Amino acid sequence: MTDPRSLAWPPAPIRTERLVLRESEARDRAAVIELNASPEVGTYLGGPQPRDELERTVPDVPGRSPGWFAVELDGATIGTVQLKPHNPELPGSRHRRDAGRTELGYLFLPGAWGRGYATEACTAALDWFTGAQPGEPVVLYTQTANAPSMRLASKLGFTERERFEAWGAEQWFGVRSSVTPSA
Ligand SMILES: CC(C)(COP(=O)(O)OP(=O)(O)OC[C@H]1O[C@@H](n2cnc3c(N)ncnc32)[C@H](O)[C@@H]1OP(=O)(O)O)[C@@H](O)C(=O)NCCC(=O)NCCS
Repeated sequence: MTDPRSLAWPPAPIRTERLVLRESEARDRAAVIELNASPEVGTYLGGPQPRDELERTVPDVPGRSPGWFAVELDGATIGTVQLKPHNPELPGSRHRRDAGRTELGYLFLPGAWGRGYATEACTAALDWFTGAQPGEPVVLYTQTANAPSMRLASKLGFTERERFEAWGAEQWFGVRSSVTPSA
């Protein structure tokens, strides 16, 4: 298995029906701060981070790593999709650590929820990843209480491998085996 850090990066911007996925730029900084400071976004992610701390610590160009996509709608950043190295430090079994080396994450601003943008963006990112690293599985963690995220994981083709307790809540661990990119 290969690591997402070995991806050829950046790709050309990926255009979907309504969105553009692209590498990070300085203009994404405000959205990244908003995503991390938002109580709604942080509900199942350990809570929001203090805005003043984010203003101090978020780099001028946030998210500069292979697999980190800013998601743009009509020129505005509405969220991020990340294909990142599966964190081997996470508490858990060897079984989970060996399931895949790439993990999907997604964060969207609340104003953009409920319109299918996350599904559209994640599908495009996963299709790109499958083209770049054919045969590589992708793993996903989410709290089971995070119903929109659970629905999204299912729509994207992740299937449950395990539920476990960590960080004070029940966690869901799923895997998406490599499939042919959608047309
Ligand atoms: C997880 C998260 C991305 C899901 O967002 P979402 O808005 O529910 O997901 P989508 O953008 O794909 O929208 C899907 C919803 O839009 C609806 N929808 C409306 N118009 C649509 C369209 N044109 N196409 C597709 N779906 C559409 C769907 O029916 C669906 O509603 P439902 O979930 O009630 O069935 C969002 O809740 C979020 O950013 N949460 C905070 C971060 C987080 O918890 N991340 C998880 C980390 S693992």
